[in-house]
Amino acid sequence: MKIIVIGGTGMIGTQLVSNLRLHHYEVIAAAPANGINSVTGEGLADALSGAEVIVDVSNAPVYNESLQFFETSGNNLVEAARKAGVKHYIVLSIVGTPQLTESNYFRAKANQESIVRNSGIPYTIVRATQFFEFLGTLADLYTQEGIIHLTPATVQPISSADVAFELAKTALSAPLNGIKNIAGPERFILPEIVARYLQKIGDSRKVITDDKIGYDGVFVNDARLSPEFPDWVAAQTFDSWFAESSAKSLNA
Ligand SMILES: NC(=O)c1ccc[n+]([C@@H]2O[C@H](COP(=O)([O-])OP(=O)(O)OC[C@H]3O[C@@H](n4cnc5c(N)ncnc54)[C@H](OP(=O)(O)O)[C@@H]3O)[C@@H](O)[C@H]2O)c1
Repeated sequence: MKIIVIGGTGMIGTQLVSNLRLHHYEVIAAAPANGINSVTGEGLADALSGAEVIVDVSNAPVYNESLQFFETSGNNLVEAARKAGVKHYIVLSIVGTPQLTESNYFRAKANQESIVRNSGIPYTIVRATQFFEFLGTLADLYTQEGIIHLTPATVQPISSADVAFELAKTALSAPLNGIKNIAGPERFILPEIVARYLQKIGDSRKVITDDKIGYDGVFVNDARLSPEFPDWVAAQTFDSWFAESSAKSLNA
């Protein structure tokens, strides 16, 4: 079976491609650097020829252009997948997406989801919670004059490896024509887990809870970023992820 991973060189994509290759599937890691561009359409028809499954784990290279990116990319991918006779179209989205569309990024993800849902191609939308690997980026994004201001949202973060594992399983399963919500095993209040992460890496920036700061342009002081009833809960905890990723970086 041939599987094409759009964004196959990114954080999730790299791990997904290697999971699938370990099981001897024919996998194309699609990215502009490999001559496959979902925005311009370059290389798409050839890459999709004979593919049964497409997994879209791409991301907009310029954050402020996410709306345009996911719309153009999604439409091009659906058209090319339809022509190629793809049997299962998988897209990676974010838990809470439909409830957070006042944010440009979440609106972009909601559009990406609806392009796939309305494509007529059998599909699965996998909505994941925030990745552990994203905690450092969040800290930097919300730093003001050396202090990190974070909204008291309830989060249930997950490791990117667990997301890639579940996506590989999804790619080898029948389409749900629906949504699969996935999350990590523990719930935290966002400032709590970011502070814990910073403490582990020896970053002395102070973290404060600020319910006026919002999250990606929308006020989230509740549990909309965590699934009420997850369809799959990963086993890896924050501490176990941290220990494993520090060991990997020591050996790199
Ligand atoms: N961060 C989180 O906590 C979180 C949570 C849930 C879901 N997600 C979703 O997870 C997805 C993947 O995230 P990630 O962190 O793995 O992203 P990433 O590391 O930034 O990787 C993005 C990938 O997209 C590729 N790409 C960019 N423009 C492209 C184009 N025109 N055509 C084809 N490929 C293109 C990139 O290729 P180059 O490297 O060549 O640019 C790269 O392979 C995103 O859609 C995001 O919304 C994220």
